[in-house]
Amino acid sequence: MYNENPTLQDLGSKTIDESAQGQVYAAAAVAEDPDTKLFYIESYGCQMNFSDSEIVASILGDAGYNPTRDLDAADLILINTCSIREKAEDTVRKRLRVFDKVKRRKPGTMVGVLGCMAERLKAKFLEEEKLVDLVVGPDAYRDLPNLVAGAEEGDKGVNVFLSREETYADINPLRLQTNGVTAFISIMRGCDNMCSFCVVPYTRGRERSRSAFSIVAEATDLFDRGFREVTLLGQNVDSYKWTNPETEEIVNFAELLTLTAAVHPDLRIRFSTSHPKDITDDVLYAMRAHENVCKYIHLPVQSGNSRILDLMNRTYDREWYQKKIDRVYEVIPECAISSDVITGFCSETEEEHRDTLSMIEYARYSMSYMFYYSERPGTPAARKFADDVPLSVKKRRLQEIIDLQTGISHELNQQDIGKTFRVLIEGESKRSDQDWKGRNTQNKMIIFPKNGDHRPGEYVTVTVTDATSATLLGHLNTPH
Ligand code: SAH
Ligand code: SF4
Ligand code: F3S
Repeated sequence: MYNENPTLQDLGSKTIDESAQGQVYAAAAVAEDPDTKLFYIESYGCQMNFSDSEIVASILGDAGYNPTRDLDAADLILINTCSIREKAEDTVRKRLRVFDKVKRRKPGTMVGVLGCMAERLKAKFLEEEKLVDLVVGPDAYRDLPNLVAGAEEGDKGVNVFLSREETYADINPLRLQTNGVTAFISIMRGCDNMCSFCVVPYTRGRERSRSAFSIVAEATDLFDRGFREVTLLGQNVDSYKWTNPETEEIVNFAELLTLTAAVHPDLRIRFSTSHPKDITDDVLYAMRAHENVCKYIHLPVQSGNSRILDLMNRTYDREWYQKKIDRVYEVIPECAISSDVITGFCSETEEEHRDTLSMIEYARYSMSYMFYYSERPGTPAARKFADDVPLSVKKRRLQEIIDLQTGISHELNQQDIGKTFRVLIEGESKRSDQDWKGRNTQNKMIIFPKNGDHRPGEYVTVTVTDATSATLLGHLNTPH
């Protein structure tokens, strides 16, 4: 579900792809009044950040700001940042140099840093980056209009308070760059898992789940507005747990899937990301029971070796994870599974690396996001273990993993040739306006020539005729 840097494709379809990194807010409304203040926002990192930018846009909209895609026209420049790997932070620093130039040309322009890097560095950001006026963490976005008003008076504003309750449940996100067909719904925030390599528990705070009613209401509203697919978002969606304050009843993730699936049979439900420990049989049964819950699970393994998994504090070992994979395919034979993998974690040997390679073969992942280990300051791994695998080795192992995964994706896609899938049209293919693009339930992208009177948001039946490692090609089954 992540790509900090423009190196990976997909925030897994959903997956924020390479071209989306640094995505700029679409000017949904144009300022009629020349005195209306304009904000510009750019997002990096995972889907959660992109989804948060839509919340920020909504909050600023209510405070009288209008969005702009023109950096030079903005009164307020915001960058929603990611800290997951060092490269992600480097990208943000580079962008700040560009904003600095804009600010010099147009004194009075304010620059705000939002998101995970703001949370990690806090007020230090103001010392390190003199141009920054605002530093706002992921749980403090309601305070933005206040902080901006203060900054207009010349104060520097910092709010990096992490909340145990904030879910922004009542805020109707202003959809950014929407295709009108697919949307994200944030269902929980934070993470309590403490994987030793990961900065997220420090930048996003404790896990909390949003009201099931507000999630179903948002899904219903999206469906009524023509959307046909929602992705339930969180760092750890399958640990979703919400207590109804009136009845004390607990809604778990399996039940939430059932509730959202009931919004409409034509509304597809996806979710990301799942921690393997929380994918229970009940979740699998809920997926199987509802045709519109997509048969696709992003189930990051990180490593295929039990000693490394223990050092990573992933709470499962190789055998346990393999049994989980077996169980998914047993309950939902047509399910596609994808993964995240880290190479060269502290003290990883060649043999342990080979365990990761063999795990990728075992699991038959449809795709993976693959990274080499990047030590993050303050994490348990940084405090306890030496980052002792040389960069060249980390990179070579990463390449081996990418090569293997690409081969498997290609093989699996080849097996789809001749099969027929129900595809939700998302829009025109990037390469040609003569082709549609859409996904099947397994989250595989299918490109097919336009034929007849179809439009985005419609379901069609497509037969696959060819495949690469990344995409299926096909033709419409029922042209009319
Ligand atoms: N919550 C999700 C993942 C969040 S971060 C989960 O638990 O699966 C997304 C991915 O970035 C992780 O799955 C991991 O593969 C990768 N990642 C996280 N920290 C990293 C680090 N320090 N170095 C390299 N990759 C990292
Ligand atoms: Fe990070 Fe682990 Fe939480 Fe995922 S589950 S966000 S990898 S700590
Ligand atoms: Fe990055 Fe924060 Fe997401 S560190 S991956 S933007 S939760």
